[in-house]
Amino acid sequence: MYMNYYIHTFGCQMNYSDSERIASYLNSLGFKKASKAQKADFVIFNSCSIRQKGEDKVVGQIRETARRKKQNPNLLIALTGCMVRHSSTQKTPKDLQDKSLRRLSHLDIAFRIEDLPKLKSLISNSLKSPEIESQKNYFHIKPDYTSTFQAFIPISTGCDKFCTYCIVPYARGREVSRPLKEILQEATHLVENGCKEITLLGQTVDSYGLSPIDRKAGLFNYTEVDAGKLPPPFVQLLNKIDKLHKKGLKRLRFTSPHPKDVSPELIEAYGKLKTLMPHIHLPIQSGDNTCLKRMNRPYTTKRYIEIINALRASCPDIAITTDIIVGFCGETEKEFKNTLDLYGKVGFDFCFIGQYSTRKGTYASQHLIDDVSREKKLKRWHILNSLLKKITHEKLAKFIGSEVEVLVEKSTTKAKNFLYTGTTPHNKVVQFTSPRKNLVGTFQNVGIKKAENWLLHGELI
Ligand code: 5AD
Ligand code: SF4
Repeated sequence: MYMNYYIHTFGCQMNYSDSERIASYLNSLGFKKASKAQKADFVIFNSCSIRQKGEDKVVGQIRETARRKKQNPNLLIALTGCMVRHSSTQKTPKDLQDKSLRRLSHLDIAFRIEDLPKLKSLISNSLKSPEIESQKNYFHIKPDYTSTFQAFIPISTGCDKFCTYCIVPYARGREVSRPLKEILQEATHLVENGCKEITLLGQTVDSYGLSPIDRKAGLFNYTEVDAGKLPPPFVQLLNKIDKLHKKGLKRLRFTSPHPKDVSPELIEAYGKLKTLMPHIHLPIQSGDNTCLKRMNRPYTTKRYIEIINALRASCPDIAITTDIIVGFCGETEKEFKNTLDLYGKVGFDFCFIGQYSTRKGTYASQHLIDDVSREKKLKRWHILNSLLKKITHEKLAKFIGSEVEVLVEKSTTKAKNFLYTGTTPHNKVVQFTSPRKNLVGTFQNVGIKKAENWLLHGELI
């Protein structure tokens, strides 16, 4: 019997949320969470495929873990997440349907996350847990939430956008949304048990309820939605969750929306809803229209700026963060310069900059040439990163002298004090020290004194 498990999670918040479901599933099978990977006899890797580097990291760690099989022949290693493209399998690597995984000779199980309910039968022993076995949908497995006051709720899975560089539509499959009622039940349960902040998750979270599969399932009244008589499903969901403020919900966030699906109603919601926080993470990917076309991103920079202006009109101080890829196939110096110009024009609060990495199976890998050299990608990354640092610092510095509400998330001891870390409504990270105990999970008013190294530093008021 495999008693102790450990989950290594890589990549986005969706994976972290999925890991909470895996943990809860294993707990109900009688497994115990090990304090470190070295103490576990069932090690699960929840992987990310967005970039080659990410996959290489997982492969390296699996190989390292497998060395422990010499001392512990019962050690079982499983892989899930984006690296598992085909159906779930077990036993010898030869049985693995994903050819790319066969190089991992010590892998025992590869399962797609939606096959989590089948994990028990994939584990070769006779653990008994009938009610878990009867679960058919992985969303019905209640997560083992890592925090009591903050929670991530996946509202949809998969992606139908097919950006030419991206592996997600192949790794995660078609976009499917959860019924509104089910999400609301999960959110209500969380809030009734002390949750203060909810983050809704989806690959393109704002197209919630709009995929062909959702339409076929009749999740919403599409006649009314299409006629504009009802708000888009995503906004209907936000409106409903916002009502939970009466039960104690303070903060609502979501990630990541796609510019194509940002509706006027969503923009208005920023000015109306009590719990929706003044921050949006809206990936732009490039500040050049021809590059956006090659990426199959169906908007122009003009449209993106219109959205930003409308958001700022609805919520004047909204923080805007984004994702940008540098060195995409065919990106010229001029195109890169357009991205730099747009970055300054929008004045992003923060950005995740990725150097383009070819992903096998994508449109770009088959039809476009990865012709920007490694050196150029790195150089462009550094140039954009310097601009990012400068603007991020300016944005942070604006808070100096102001009082902000911080949801305290972590604490460490520092001399006789505690060093606390938390976030503001604008999603800025704040640190402060205090002799007071047990502030994690509470809201505190903090006077901001300085901005340094991506953080705000302050004092309790
Ligand atoms: N190379 C580099 N970055 C990528 N992203 C997605 N695919 C790739 C790729 N092939 C980035 C995008 C996306 C973020 C999650 O990862 O910017 O928004
Ligand atoms: Fe990938 Fe584009 Fe879908 Fe985002 S919207 S997950 S970048 S295909």
